[in-house]
Amino acid sequence: MKSLLRTSTILLAMAPALVSALEIIAHRGASADAPENTLEAMELAWEQKSDAAELDLWQSKDGRLIVFHDNDTKRFETEKRKIKDLTLEEVRKLDVGSFKDPKFAGTRVPSLESILAIIPDSKREVLEIKDGPEIIPELVRVLKKSGVPKEKYCVISFNEATLRASKKALPDIPHYFLMGYKKDAKTGEFPELEPLITLAKEAGFEGLNLHSDWPITPEFTAKVKAAGLKLMVWTVDDAALAQKLVDSGVDAITTNKPAWLREQLKK
Ligand code: G3P
Ligand code: CA
Repeated sequence: MKSLLRTSTILLAMAPALVSALEIIAHRGASADAPENTLEAMELAWEQKSDAAELDLWQSKDGRLIVFHDNDTKRFETEKRKIKDLTLEEVRKLDVGSFKDPKFAGTRVPSLESILAIIPDSKREVLEIKDGPEIIPELVRVLKKSGVPKEKYCVISFNEATLRASKKALPDIPHYFLMGYKKDAKTGEFPELEPLITLAKEAGFEGLNLHSDWPITPEFTAKVKAAGLKLMVWTVDDAALAQKLVDSGVDAITTNKPAWLREQLKK
């Protein structure tokens, strides 16, 4: 009886840890409720008790960092301009709020510094680099100057060369390789897990960040973990799918609706 009581006590004590072991990442901030990649979306992500918030990064024509998703301005103005052809000053003139809702009219592209400054204790920002390796020196400069502790951010990218360059410049920071799940245009084949694991291990990345279309099962996750890698998944706004991923043992789920998803997972 005594040992049964002790086991139950241990299990009860572990329960919150098991629940919180899943990292819920707000995709482009809490982007279902606020304009993506803005300070408002990041503030809302923290209000909604996200464990982390994701953002996208480009480098401007004059070498500065831009927190922005698309490679052009089409969604935000009638003229369509390549984001990399603009200076930071030009980017800062864009209204990145109205497309979401008139109540957000006049919202500006934030600086990375302003976002780093509001990361709560024990939370982290997920920095997705959309650009090529040439962005890394400026990113390192801004991160170092901000003085933000290394536990408060990690780096992700679809661009292998960029992620390798970033890992080399920031060896103590976790890096996760992003990969979609689309048939290769030449071979007609879907990507496979094993070569990705090999690549991540060889490059010294801490894990993979995969699109939710990947056939993720407990066995799939076990293979990633057996290699000593973390498994993150994007972008999931579907409660049943999120539960399936949790049951498969993924480490993190990126969602546009962090507060809603956490509620769904408690049910
Ligand atoms: O977190 C990964 C995810 O953001 C990648 O897709 O297009 O939303 O940047 P995208
Ligand atoms: Ca992103």
